[in-house]
Amino acid sequence: MNIEVQLEPIPLPANLLADRIVVVFDILRATSVIVHALAEGATEIIPVIAVEEAFELAKTFPPGSTLLGGERGSQRIEGFDLGNSPREYAAPKVRGKRVILTTTNGTRALHTVSDGKRVMVGSFFNMDAVAKVCRQLEHDLLLYPSGDKGSFSLEDTVCTGMLIDRIMDKRERSVRLTDAARAAWILYQRFESNVEEAFSLSSHGKDLIGLGLEEDLAYCARTDRFDLVPFFRQGVIRSK
Ligand code: MLT
Repeated sequence: MNIEVQLEPIPLPANLLADRIVVVFDILRATSVIVHALAEGATEIIPVIAVEEAFELAKTFPPGSTLLGGERGSQRIEGFDLGNSPREYAAPKVRGKRVILTTTNGTRALHTVSDGKRVMVGSFFNMDAVAKVCRQLEHDLLLYPSGDKGSFSLEDTVCTGMLIDRIMDKRERSVRLTDAARAAWILYQRFESNVEEAFSLSSHGKDLIGLGLEEDLAYCARTDRFDLVPFFRQGVIRSK
């Protein structure tokens, strides 16, 4: 198995993606929201790029069946039901509902890699579940930190490194890492005992703290809470 990490969230050729199992991470906070919402009983998540697209799509579903969620500038969008804190996506609100989600980086990243052979959604919440599926599939992996407005993001790369750490466990000889994957793994080892430290050092983490959303940093760092792996297929995310 080969593992590579795309350290900056740039578009990749469709033929490369078609041969890779992709895992997307936007820890703060889109992929944490997606995993949390599905674990709490949402039926599916539809990630879209534009706010207008979200409003238009919602009109095509029966009234009461669909929630609009997401952010711009990390704040809830006017007219939306939910913002972008995983804590909002709890069972009383989301059980049995479809969520149409639009965020600055995370939902965009999912569409950027949608040509992947399979596309999974990763977070600290479902780390072990994703690692287990990666080990079972035994296929070349492309790990895709969503980044921050087109640039490298510390918190997503640390999370990517944790997944590598879990996959590598006792298998070092059969897994080949690119230099970027090895760098992510080494970066994770620096923050292993306290991933929240990486969050608070990251520029997006600092922005969230500045907005009074520091509770989300601690919340998104909770590891192995849900045994669930969301897959993004044909525009929709569902747990397998
Ligand atoms: C994003 O997708 O850009 C983030 O989830 C932004 C946020 O933390 O609200």
